[in-house]
Amino acid sequence: MPKTPDYFRDKTILITGAASGIGRATAHIFAREGSNVVVADIDAEGAERVAGEILGTGCGSLAVTCDVTDRKSVEAAVEAGIGAFGRIDFQLNSAGTPGRREVFLGIDDALWRQTHALNVDGVFHCMQAVLPHMIGQGGGVIVNIASMAHRRGGPGHSIHYAAAKGAVVTMTMGVAREFVDRGIRALSISPGPVDTPFHAVSSDELIARMTDDVPMKRFGLPEEIGELVLFMCSDACEYMTADTVYVNGGGGWR
Ligand SMILES: NC(=O)c1ccc[n+]([C@@H]2O[C@H](COP(=O)([O-])OP(=O)(O)OC[C@H]3O[C@@H](n4cnc5c(N)ncnc54)[C@H](O)[C@@H]3O)[C@@H](O)[C@H]2O)c1
Repeated sequence: MPKTPDYFRDKTILITGAASGIGRATAHIFAREGSNVVVADIDAEGAERVAGEILGTGCGSLAVTCDVTDRKSVEAAVEAGIGAFGRIDFQLNSAGTPGRREVFLGIDDALWRQTHALNVDGVFHCMQAVLPHMIGQGGGVIVNIASMAHRRGGPGHSIHYAAAKGAVVTMTMGVAREFVDRGIRALSISPGPVDTPFHAVSSDELIARMTDDVPMKRFGLPEEIGELVLFMCSDACEYMTADTVYVNGGGGWR
């Protein structure tokens, strides 16, 4: 929670991947605190739906159709957010997926490139698009969703994805340290398995194995990640930047 009451009121967050899962849950948490939410997603209908939900709470919201793999599309989303609300105080980069699960020797160039285009290039484009604005307005906070997979390497099913998320952790650290003197904080979150539509590509066997491997014996809820995003963006978290934080029910995911 923030140190200052109403800290988030009338501030603005831009969230990629906001039509579903962690992005959508975080959109609702920021709306609960009175923030405007720019709902950016490649799923136009889903973005409209979530923006409608937020507007229904009385907060400002704007749906933007955005493909994070496309730099121009990301730049347009940032401009649209600034056009609607005047500034972007926070950015959550949540758009991401492994694409499909695959053993290492089955990962072809197309899967490798798609995974990196979405998970790495996407975060790269989003941070490059928002940073000049944040610096111009005197500061801001960026939170990138990585994955605990980056620490385990994803053996047997998602080395392509784990490697991409490792790049997100490293890129976040570099940006945080490069822009620390311009009022910018950047952090990443490395969740264990979270109960979202993301697991449509996970087999029942993999889901059972992941659950069994978590000491709490359950998947996390998307809201349990969103509340951490809120804390990270708040004035109660001002000495924290660069690092990744693991949220995983005690570890696991062999
Ligand atoms: N769910 C998990 O177990 C888990 C664990 C660790 C990390 N993560 C990470 O958390 C983040 C959010 O995942 P989630 O579980 O909420 O998944 P999700 O599938 O529920 O949501 C992902 C959203 O990203 C959007 N998206 C996909 N490609 C896009 C693109 N090119 N441009 C813009 N938007 C795009 C989708 O339309 C969707 O709305 C991802 O980065 C994922 O890698 C998830």
